[in-house]
Amino acid sequence: MPEQTTEKQAFLNQLHGYQEGIKHKQELESCGSDFADHRGKVANTIATLHPKRLDLTVAEIIDDTASTKTLRLVSSDDRQLPPFQAGQYINLFVNIDGVETARPYAISSAPLTRTHYDLTIKRVTPGYVTHFLLDRVKVGDRFQSTGPMGTFYHNPLFHGEDLVFLAGGSGIAPAISMIREIADRQHPYRFHLIYASSYENDIIFDQELKQLSEQLPNLILDKVISRPTKHYEGLTGHLSAEFIQQRLETIENKMFYICGPTPFNEYCAQQLSTLAVKPRHVRIEANGPPKHPEQQPGWPQQIIPTQEITVTVQGGGSFKTPVNEPLLNALERNGYGTENACRSGECSLCRVKITKGKVFNPSEAHLRTTDQQYGWCHSCVAFPLEDIEIQL
Ligand code: FES
Repeated sequence: MPEQTTEKQAFLNQLHGYQEGIKHKQELESCGSDFADHRGKVANTIATLHPKRLDLTVAEIIDDTASTKTLRLVSSDDRQLPPFQAGQYINLFVNIDGVETARPYAISSAPLTRTHYDLTIKRVTPGYVTHFLLDRVKVGDRFQSTGPMGTFYHNPLFHGEDLVFLAGGSGIAPAISMIREIADRQHPYRFHLIYASSYENDIIFDQELKQLSEQLPNLILDKVISRPTKHYEGLTGHLSAEFIQQRLETIENKMFYICGPTPFNEYCAQQLSTLAVKPRHVRIEANGPPKHPEQQPGWPQQIIPTQEITVTVQGGGSFKTPVNEPLLNALERNGYGTENACRSGECSLCRVKITKGKVFNPSEAHLRTTDQQYGWCHSCVAFPLEDIEIQL
């Protein structure tokens, strides 16, 4: 043992800055600071503010529209929930008939309300997790989730105080959280919400939005219906460049947020680019992988989207999957879970290594050059193009 200690000390001594560090520590200790006092405190604080997992219980289910409900989730151990920024999401883990999967949902409640998180969920067709959450979940059910995550929030330093939010369908969830925060904190930001829904009875938070827009002079509300009934007298159509320009006095110095289904996001981003809005003035909250990978730039046209290929997991087994199913979904369906959060190519938690074969990485995969060089992919948005072998 003494030799080991000496060896270890010799090793430490030759590290650059080690001696200076020891001297500094001794100086602090001579002034009364004891490092041992802080041991573990930083880790505890981080775990409280940014927990990896939360245990949540459904306290209430609120019917919003015929196709939308809000699940009100409280901490299963009666604690305050961790703080979050309006616009952030949690990734909710579910077990559907034995398949372990997860989906990210924006928190629609206000950040000042720490007793619960609201998740506003709209049925998508064809759907899997939304159908489960809307049809089978009851008050008292328990779930695990990640802590709040994501970068889709207002940063006053970089985003200014003139904000425009283009929301489509359930993309209203992060917007209402931002608006509730403006109301709670009396923020002076100008917030122009242009909210697109298919039908009049699809408008989520309709009454509350009306009330808030009457109450807050800095909130401008435009509701737009794409398939109106004959007698509808409000705004109709799509969020075209022309429409956006018409609704805003100017597009100068505004920060745009876009949140809705992927085709809505892509359409709005295109319209803003037509209006010459700089990309740094546009923030998009992606919601899942592209619905039709074969329509994405770079998809090899000779590949038939429904073609089946074999995925082999090193040290595990093999299974078959169609090429147009995201690799992460296919892995989960076959019992191979991997860490994940955003499920839209942003956070990189779902990285897996492709050791044989090729996958298609659409542009939202946000892969680093080195990831591509060494065969890593973000499995939530990667589509196998041929038989592949992977390392989890
Ligand atoms: S889960 Fe975030 S990149 Fe895949």
